[in-house]
Amino acid sequence: IRKGEYIRDILAGDVGRPVVAHGWVKTRRDSKGIHFVQINDGSCFADLQVVIENGAIEESVLKQVTTGASVRVEGELVPSPASGQPVELKAKAIFVYGTADPASYPLQKKGHTMEFLREIAHLRPRSNTFGAVFRVRNALAKAIHDFFQERGFLYVHTPIITTSDCEGAGAMFGVTTLDLMNLPRYGEGPRIGEIDFSQDFFGKPAYLTVSGQLEAEIFALAFTNVYTFGPTFRAENSNTPRHLAEFWMVEPEMAFCDLQDDIALAEEFLKAIIAKVMDECLPDLEFFNKRFDPQVLETLEHVVKSSFAHVSYTEAIEILQKSGRNWEFPVHWGADLQSEHERYLTEEVFRRPVIVTDYPKEIKAFYMRVNEDGRTVRAMDVLAPRIGEIIGGSQREERYDVLLQRIRECGLSEENYWWYLDLRKYGSAPHAGFGLGFERLMLYLTGMKNIRDVIPFPRTPGSAEF
Ligand code: 4AD
Ligand code: MG
Repeated sequence: IRKGEYIRDILAGDVGRPVVAHGWVKTRRDSKGIHFVQINDGSCFADLQVVIENGAIEESVLKQVTTGASVRVEGELVPSPASGQPVELKAKAIFVYGTADPASYPLQKKGHTMEFLREIAHLRPRSNTFGAVFRVRNALAKAIHDFFQERGFLYVHTPIITTSDCEGAGAMFGVTTLDLMNLPRYGEGPRIGEIDFSQDFFGKPAYLTVSGQLEAEIFALAFTNVYTFGPTFRAENSNTPRHLAEFWMVEPEMAFCDLQDDIALAEEFLKAIIAKVMDECLPDLEFFNKRFDPQVLETLEHVVKSSFAHVSYTEAIEILQKSGRNWEFPVHWGADLQSEHERYLTEEVFRRPVIVTDYPKEIKAFYMRVNEDGRTVRAMDVLAPRIGEIIGGSQREERYDVLLQRIRECGLSEENYWWYLDLRKYGSAPHAGFGLGFERLMLYLTGMKNIRDVIPFPRTPGSAEF
C-alpha cells in the first residue's frame, strides 16, 4: 500500500506536521504568486486544498497539475485562512503520476447531466455526486452485514447459476457456453452473433438467479437465521427509473418465525441501517440534500424515529377505492398495486413507509403460506414514499401437502422442486424471510432519481457497457 494518508484523515489531523497526499485534481485556480489546487482521493466528500507558492514547485511540473491529473503532494499541513476548510496543504514537492489533457478531459467543473455522466461511467466515480453515491453504497453494505452479524445470522452464498426459478415470473436470463478456442479466426467464419451457443453444460437448462431465497431456506432449516447478499438478475423488459436487469438483493431467512416476526425484523432492519449510514456518511447525505432532494435528510430522520404504517392488502384496496381518484389502473380486490397506488398510500395517506400484508394468492409466488381464508397468503411488501416497493417477503408454506398443491396450481414442475418439497418432509418448520432491493434503498437514502445512478455499472434493456 502506498505511503501517505487518506485525505479524510489528513483533514481531521493536526496541523504543523509533514503530510503526503495522493489524489486526482478536481480544480485549479491561479492568482498572483500563488496557486490553489483541490485534490480528492475518494475517501471523503471534502477536497484537500493544496497551496503552491510561487517558486515552490518547478514550472514544468506545475504545468501538468490540471483537472483530472493524478498527483502525489508532499508538504506541511497548515491552518487555512479560507472559510469552509480548517486546514490546507502547503506543497513542497509534487509528483504527477498521470496527466489529463484539460481540453479533452470529459469531466469538467460545470455540472453535467446524469445522462451524460452515465455515458462516462468509467470517469463518473471521480465526480462529487458519484463519489458520494458510492461511499454511501459501501457504508450501506457494511451496515447490512453488521446488522445481521451482530444478531447471529449466518451469511450464506447462494448460487448465481441456478436451475430453479424462484419467483415463477419467467423473466430469467439463460446460461449458455461458447468455446472460444474453436471459434473461426476473425473474418473467416461466423461472427459472435451467428454462433451456436451450447446449453448442454449442466445437462439441463440453467439460468442466472432471480433470488437466493429457495437456497437460503435450505440453510435456514439448518442454521436457523441466515442471510444472503448478492447479485440477482431479471430479464423483464421494464425500462423504468426503478428497474435493473442486474441488481443486488439482501435476503434474510429465519426458521421458527412467522409473518409478524418477519415484519418486525424488516422494520428494525431498515431503521438500523439507515441510522448507521446517516452516522457514517453525513457529509455525503448533506450534499444530496442540497443538490438533489431538499427533503432527504428530514425524511430519513423521521423514518428512523417513527413507526411504519401497517395495512392489509384488503384494507389498502378499500382506501384506494374510497379515495375518489381516477386511477389509470383500476382498483379492485385481486389487482396488483401499481406505482400510482403505492405513491398515494405512502405519500398522501400515511406519509411514511407502509407495510402491506396478506395479498391474494393469485398475485404472489407459489411458496407463500396460504392463510386460513384460502384466498390470501402471508405476504408482506414494504412500500416507501417516492420509491414504492423496497422489500418483498413472506412466511413460507411449510406444509408438504399445501405446498405440493400450490406448485401444481401454479403450473410448475414438481420434479424440479423435489428438494424444496423434501425440506417439508424432513424436519419442516415455520419460517419466513424477505428480500430488500439494495438499489431501491439506495434511491431512498440518496434522493437520486434513477436507479442507473446508484449502481456502479447499470445493466438495463438495451444498455450494458463494460
Ligand atoms: O419482491 P421480489 O421479487 O421478492 C423476491 O425475490 C423474494 N424471493 C424475496 C424473498 O422473500 N427472499 O424482490 C425483492 C425486492 C423488491 O422488493 C425490490 O426492492 C427489488 O427486490 N427488485 C428490484 N430492484 C431493482 N430492479 C429490479 N428489476 C427489481 N426487481 C425486484
Ligand atoms: Mg415483490
